[in-house]
Amino acid sequence: MDAPMNNHRYITTPIYYVNADPHIGHLYTTTVCDVWARFSRFAGHDTFFLTGTDEHGLKVEQSAQARGIEPQQFADEISASFRKVMTGMQLTFDDFIRTTDEAHERQVQLFVERLQAADAVYLGEFEGWYDEGQEEYYTETQAKDLEYHSPISKKPLVRAREKNYYFRLSAFQERLEAYFKKHPNFVRPSARYNEVLGRLRAGLNDVPMSRTNFSWGIQMPNDPDHVIYVWIDALFNYITALGLAEPESDLASKRASYWPATYHVIGKEILWFHAVIWPAILMALDIPLPACIYAHSFWISEGQKMSKSMGNFIDCDVLDRYRETYGLDALRYFMATQGPLGATDSNFAASKFHETYTSDLVNTVGNCASRVNAMIGKYCEGVCPTDSGQCANGGVEWDEFTAKQAEASMTAMEQFDLSSSIEEALAIVRKVDAFINDTEPFKLAKDPEAKETVDNILYRCAEALRIAACLLWAVIPEKSAALLSSLGQNVTPGQDRLGSLTQWGQLQPGTNIQKIALFPRLEAPMDVTSTSS
Ligand code: MSP
Repeated sequence: MDAPMNNHRYITTPIYYVNADPHIGHLYTTTVCDVWARFSRFAGHDTFFLTGTDEHGLKVEQSAQARGIEPQQFADEISASFRKVMTGMQLTFDDFIRTTDEAHERQVQLFVERLQAADAVYLGEFEGWYDEGQEEYYTETQAKDLEYHSPISKKPLVRAREKNYYFRLSAFQERLEAYFKKHPNFVRPSARYNEVLGRLRAGLNDVPMSRTNFSWGIQMPNDPDHVIYVWIDALFNYITALGLAEPESDLASKRASYWPATYHVIGKEILWFHAVIWPAILMALDIPLPACIYAHSFWISEGQKMSKSMGNFIDCDVLDRYRETYGLDALRYFMATQGPLGATDSNFAASKFHETYTSDLVNTVGNCASRVNAMIGKYCEGVCPTDSGQCANGGVEWDEFTAKQAEASMTAMEQFDLSSSIEEALAIVRKVDAFINDTEPFKLAKDPEAKETVDNILYRCAEALRIAACLLWAVIPEKSAALLSSLGQNVTPGQDRLGSLTQWGQLQPGTNIQKIALFPRLEAPMDVTSTSS
């Protein structure tokens, strides 16, 4: 990732279609962005986190018609339900953009006018095989594969022509290739970079940027017969939310400096639009490109592709049940550590969830915290002891070790490697456990002469836990805050800086330390078969 010139960071999710209800896919992308945004604010960066809904297009028009309501009303309802679910999951987006927002629509038209002025758009005629029922065009190859019949209605495809506005994508071939070459981290993970570059090198065709077969959309400037193609309309959300088309506006004065985006986080199925079409549009408009398009893979569920009919669909009801059983932080933790950020799909399975919860949260973080705090309760009267520095460290230079882990954890998070970042923080907790096992303060405590050694050991354990809790805060905010508070720490992430909080020695001797039970042990995986939906 190229480091931005200022202290600003900007992360976006795709904007979600309003013709389906929110499910794990949407909540996953938004949650990993939330983890990163929380971390970024805590690390002291001025961070803007954008999500929202994509509301135009034929499908929305048809869904609204089927319910006998206006598309706007339909979009209002579903968009509100996305927003509600995301707010309920305590996702800390700074704005929720809707493509039906007036400011978005106005700016999209301005941008399209600028594309026309730059001669990046022309009115052309398209001829292809048309499915009248689906209102969809197929290329010759696709039509041949379908034996010239609609895959849905089975009626014959017809030869049809349509006049559309086209974006001159082909004109950007060389510039895009050169850009990819110069910026090997422009698309991540690297498997996706290679995939796009391969397809890019195969050659680019111009792409339609308007439609005439429906009206629910943004009108093409000066041509009321055409509606701007929904993908072009949607991609612009990343810069209309910052007011980039209207530099003199209030919106732009507050937000324009967040551009270029640090990360556009998306699913792999929409990579081409983001990694090729979007950059070409920005080039045509002379706007800098985002630093990184991060395309994650997909969740499957219980080993199979998610499907409503298979009964393995992870919708909001199922997620609510996970949340009720294990807690919101556990759900965030599972998504962040076991999710498909890499190039392969991940399995959302009750047994895997339970295993991760038990091994990492119950047995590692929770157990270590309760052990340390309980020993301070028992051997130090619940008051943080002093580290006189007089006794051996049990093979650990704690200040150096925690500094190294904190640095590695923060660097990994900055690079959107959530699971490595978390692992670096967990390594501190594991080291505390090993330290306790090696030095056995519970045995030493029986010998009054060893009081100083016990104090020193327990101070180091508590202080290391404090640092681990700070590093884990972005992932498990509620439990980290509880752990910090049990150590007498009042941390306000954003105001307090992660970099300075993770320096050794800030826990003050004499602080009251409370007993704590962070993650209850649960006996068996959740029963996923008896869903209420
Ligand atoms: N509206 C477009 C995006 C426009 S962005 C300018 C769209 N919307 S969508 O509602 O279909 O959402 C797609 C996104 O949802 C994916 O890119 C991904 O972020 C998320 N997911 C949907 N299903 C998913 C999984 N099964 N697993 C993980 N995430 C997936 O495409």
